[in-house]
Amino acid sequence: MRMKKSLFTKIAIIVLSFILAAAFVGCGKVDTMKRVSKNKVVIMGTNAEFPPFEYRNDKGEVDGFDAAMAKEIAKELGVELKIEDMAFDSLLNALASGKIDFVAAGMSVTEERLENADFSEAYYTASQKIIVKKDNDTIKGKADLEGKKIGVQEGTTGDLEASKINNVQVSRFKKGIDAVMDLKNGKIDAVVIDASPAEVFVSKNDDLKILEEDLTEEEYAIAVRKGDKELLDVINKVIKNLKDSGKYDELVTQYIGQ
Ligand code: ARG
Repeated sequence: MRMKKSLFTKIAIIVLSFILAAAFVGCGKVDTMKRVSKNKVVIMGTNAEFPPFEYRNDKGEVDGFDAAMAKEIAKELGVELKIEDMAFDSLLNALASGKIDFVAAGMSVTEERLENADFSEAYYTASQKIIVKKDNDTIKGKADLEGKKIGVQEGTTGDLEASKINNVQVSRFKKGIDAVMDLKNGKIDAVVIDASPAEVFVSKNDDLKILEEDLTEEEYAIAVRKGDKELLDVINKVIKNLKDSGKYDELVTQYIGQ
């Protein structure tokens, strides 16, 4: 009788520890869709220093092509959109830790980023460009950047690309516009940044020019936490619907203007 009881207790303890262990493993995972529908909100992470994809409008709100797309995603989910504006190089950590649900930040798909997040279908093809002073006639392309001082936004593909050049001195800024300011002040020789924000920054500064050469070809896509297939399916559906309905082209005209 006694013997039987302790065997039962032992089995109960083993079973219980299995349940507890499973619960702990489950803890690390955020159930995104469950949380989205419970809180009636989906959280986009971005870095609103990247016009025309994300910037602060006159009212101080985050606006731009990505914000417009994110609104469509929230609409499709039937919830409110909340936007968290943070440093570009902290977006993927914020995503992994569950602080945000997706990243819409003109983020280019790279091998390294694919290890830490899942990406939607690409929604825009971009490239890295070089900005120099208008009167600079020594830097005509990438080959002339060797040994030069180059400004970039920290953690971007522009940062990666500039860092590959021989003997360069790369200055990393939290905001692309701050690199542009240092270029104007003569503290650096060039800025390497995505073509669209380059157009915006240069259009507002007539002492600057963009060089012809494309340093890269990249695709922007929306990032979700690894394994968040359900949310990714919704995002891909929204991208497809935008393209099929012609709304995508309207947004391009409205924000990017071509
Ligand atoms: N496309 C570049 C990258 O993925 C730059 C993106 C910067 N985006 C931003 N919102 N600041 O690294």
